[in-house]
Amino acid sequence: MSIKTATLNGVATIEIARPEKKNAITMAMYAAMGEALRAANAEASVRAVLITGQPGIFTSGNDLEDFMQRPAQGADSPVFEFMKALHGSEKPVVAAVTGPAIGIGTTMLLHCDLVYVSDEAKLAMPFTSLGLVPEFASSLILPSLLGHAKAAEKLLLGDPFGPQDAVDLGLANAVLPAGEVVGHARRIAERFNTLPPAAVRESKKLMRRAVSERVLETIAAEGGVFRERLSSPEAREAFSAFFQKRKPDFSQFS
Ligand code: COA
Repeated sequence: MSIKTATLNGVATIEIARPEKKNAITMAMYAAMGEALRAANAEASVRAVLITGQPGIFTSGNDLEDFMQRPAQGADSPVFEFMKALHGSEKPVVAAVTGPAIGIGTTMLLHCDLVYVSDEAKLAMPFTSLGLVPEFASSLILPSLLGHAKAAEKLLLGDPFGPQDAVDLGLANAVLPAGEVVGHARRIAERFNTLPPAAVRESKKLMRRAVSERVLETIAAEGGVFRERLSSPEAREAFSAFFQKRKPDFSQFS
């Protein structure tokens, strides 16, 4: 199993653990993560969720082999179920970004409550260079946080950005030395043990309320385009190039 879960001292930890593939997330892993989030929300003794990766890698994003072999990603697919559980989590979700966070690795941070990044982390949403489009409301949340021009650097050009940029842009709380990020995030998550849980739950709900409907609408709109793009010739070329370890050639497309 490439997702490890454990609950300790009121914190349910979801650890992405597939280092041999840079923590690329498969359908089975999304299913396990969604299940872990739902279980954490149902368990009264859990006060917060911690999502983390492996030393040196948070996640390289969706497994590109899965994208090639199983391109259909309907609203009932494991990735949608996971993101629905994350977006809908009543309990606070803390992320410890232990290294590069690519694609959905960065997108999922937009739905966490508190985000701590390793000084070795790199964030990127290279959707266009994969022939794809933004997902899970990043096309809404990022421009509203950063403004259109800065969001275009990340979403149209796919420019990677560093941990301090993530903090400066409001996507993360703090940068920690690589060896300290998980411990720090865990200590923050454990602080919820000393707070009244219903007050935290209601506050989180209120913080999300104003944008929640637009987020869900955007996720549905993005999902339709994303699904089409997954089987597009542009995406097939990008995925093949990745596995053939060559540069993609988009010159024949209009
Ligand atoms: N899906 C499937 N396999 C992946 C993967 C992914 N998203 N990311 C990495 N891998 C695999 C590689 O194919 C390689 O497998 P191999 O050892 O069988 O050849 C292994 O993981 C190691 O990856 P590698 O690229 O050699 O590691 P690196 O340290 O040089 O680079 C990354 C790390 C994360 C920068 C790089 O792997 C990468 O860019 N991955 C793809 C990111 C991406 O486009 N994600 C999708 C976003 S929607």
